[in-house]
Amino acid sequence: MATDLVPMSLSPNLILPEDMRPKLSQVSNLASIPIIDLNEDQNGHGNIVQKISQACEEYGFFQVINHGVPEELCTRMMNTITEFFNLPPEEKAQFFSTDPTKEVRLFNYYLKVKDQENVNMWSESFSQPWHPHDNFSDLLPKNPPQYREVFGEYAKEIGKLNTRLFSLISQGLGLEEDCIQKKLGDNPRLNAQGNYYPPCPEPELTLGLAVHTDLSALTVVLQSEGVTGLQVIKDGKWVSVDPVPNAFVVNLGDQIQVLSNGRYKSVHHRAVTNKEKLRVSLAMFYGPNKETWIGPIEELVDEEHPPVYRRYRQAEFLEEFMRQEGTRRMVKEAFEIRNQGKPVN
Ligand code: OGA
Ligand code: NI
Repeated sequence: MATDLVPMSLSPNLILPEDMRPKLSQVSNLASIPIIDLNEDQNGHGNIVQKISQACEEYGFFQVINHGVPEELCTRMMNTITEFFNLPPEEKAQFFSTDPTKEVRLFNYYLKVKDQENVNMWSESFSQPWHPHDNFSDLLPKNPPQYREVFGEYAKEIGKLNTRLFSLISQGLGLEEDCIQKKLGDNPRLNAQGNYYPPCPEPELTLGLAVHTDLSALTVVLQSEGVTGLQVIKDGKWVSVDPVPNAFVVNLGDQIQVLSNGRYKSVHHRAVTNKEKLRVSLAMFYGPNKETWIGPIEELVDEEHPPVYRRYRQAEFLEEFMRQEGTRRMVKEAFEIRNQGKPVN
């Protein structure tokens, strides 16, 4: 779906049934997610631990500025992933796969709809691993020519930022700085996803990305400047996450919700489309590997706060995630103790 090939109207396989459409006029512009300056403590004022903790409890989302990742690297990364999506379809076709277990793949999200064919989302997504240290580069696209190098540099920076964020989030829960990252274990599952949303002739009829929560522990998103699209649920209303210059959007994934015993939230979000501008995002997911056991952290469980989730191996969580492909996934709910480990959908 190259930008110069945008059709005048949507083909039927892109049109959602009425009750699943985005209802853009109902999006609230009253609230916005917190913006946190990571330099604040160095300047001797402010309390970022407390601010992040509050954002994690109330929104599950925040934006960070002065995060230490060089601005020019973010620009190069955004340009590079955009160039990749703009390659001719023949060249991108080598990566195309409908197999969700493939580590590197280009694909279209879809939703299963009762009594009709699956509905495709107005987007293309590209999924790949990101290891800040290993040599993972051979799996990645050779084109555009700078792709591997830029991605390698970017991965290192995001790795550092993740450690800092995990430390702040741990402290917010009253835990040792390295507690959460330790619980997530060695050799984490590091997965990146580029999302490409060309201008859409009828944004009211479709979605860019269906409503979901991230199955990771933490997600760091770089988004196109000056184009909105990402929305999160706050008090039952959709709120738009408007891009802030040189900021990352950070959101908690399902694993932190479980580790925090439900205190911090992995919140539902979606991406909508617009008529005028191309929007691109790059999400960097950090989660545990398949062998890791995840459950509420012991220090956060007591008589007043009984465990909400049972312990599980990450492999089990991933299986449940795959099983719910194409639906409004409710994965962590299947691990709630009150559901006794049974699927809930
Ligand atoms: C995701 C995601 C949001 C966006 O990839 O999980 O939520 O802004 N992306 O594209
Ligand atoms: Ni997401």
